[in-house]
Amino acid sequence: MINVLFVCLGNICRSPMADAVFAHLVKQAGLDDKIRVDSAGTSGWHVGEPAHRGTLAVLKKHHIPYNGRARQFTHQDANQFDYILAMDRSNLSDIKRLIGDPPNTEVAMFLSYANQAGLTTIQEVPDPYYNNNFDEVYDLVFKGCQALLDHIRKTHDL
Ligand code: 4NP
Repeated sequence: MINVLFVCLGNICRSPMADAVFAHLVKQAGLDDKIRVDSAGTSGWHVGEPAHRGTLAVLKKHHIPYNGRARQFTHQDANQFDYILAMDRSNLSDIKRLIGDPPNTEVAMFLSYANQAGLTTIQEVPDPYYNNNFDEVYDLVFKGCQALLDHIRKTHDL
């Protein structure tokens, strides 16, 4: 099993969106018995809450289900996940402060795969919690997920 974790600040806007979209693409590709997907927040501010209504609305618009609840990222996640993907640079530095650079886990910016694939030059997923741009964030998250799945399929021969 390949384990993939998306991380943002609150685990209610961006990382749940990536979690839902990526799980949807994985299922469409028939790989849900090979790739497990989860998300977490570096803060504990919204632990136990469902995703933000803006995230749920944009997912619903695209017919993608999500029923996860927010949880906080912990140092134990380094042992459980093969990929830990940060939505922005601040998330990445918070993650690295907790877990360093574990030898068997790829800790990276979520959009780095889409950047390498030439799908976008934007490196950080902007936080819709502050500007309500859930549609714009969805487009970026979708590209990020497509490029990530391509990368994982190539890397693991799936
Ligand atoms: P997220 O967005 O990190 O994409 O889930 C945020 C959610 C909540 C807060 C900030 C960002 N907050 O300040 O509570």
